[in-house]
Amino acid sequence: MSVKMPLELRHLVTLVDADHAAQVASLAAQAAPFFGLDAEFAWAAGWLHDLGKLAVPPEILMAPRALSLQEQLIVRAHPVEGEMIVLRCWPEVPSVVLDAVRGHHERVGGGGYPDGLQVIPPLTALVAAADVYAALRVARVYRPAVSLKDARELLEGTALPTDVIQAVLHVAQVQEVVESGAA
Ligand SMILES: [Fe+2]
Ligand SMILES: [Fe+2]
Repeated sequence: MSVKMPLELRHLVTLVDADHAAQVASLAAQAAPFFGLDAEFAWAAGWLHDLGKLAVPPEILMAPRALSLQEQLIVRAHPVEGEMIVLRCWPEVPSVVLDAVRGHHERVGGGGYPDGLQVIPPLTALVAAADVYAALRVARVYRPAVSLKDARELLEGTALPTDVIQAVLHVAQVQEVVESGAA
């Protein structure tokens, strides 16, 4: 099944963080076949997952300091904001893609947001794991990039399904070896 994402929606992501979106989309799409998931759906969900950050003021997103409670609430609204933007621009969006946008900060056992889901749908979990890994591996204004070994440990300690975490680590490792020219 192919995904026909509207071009203007696809372009909106570049106003947020296209590099991060592309990394998450790529990891999710490569790991999707391990779970019988549609790679194009995984790519779309990865690409769109943080679109709701359009609704977060840049001075909050880029703040090199701890956020106030109010600022944290604004940031934590981004999955729901993203869901609304995607739905408005792409009414035929596959529901699993929309669920992944809304749910990419959910954690197994109810520790995530916005819904505190106990069980996370497979594509959502895949995007969530890819998101954690991709975010750790690049520098942020408030911290340097996390090493491969530390990123692996941190992702393994995240409340997401173990098989999903291992699949993301596998494809990430393959990708990094290829990119470093060692293979
Ligand atoms: Fe996010
Ligand atoms: Fe993200």
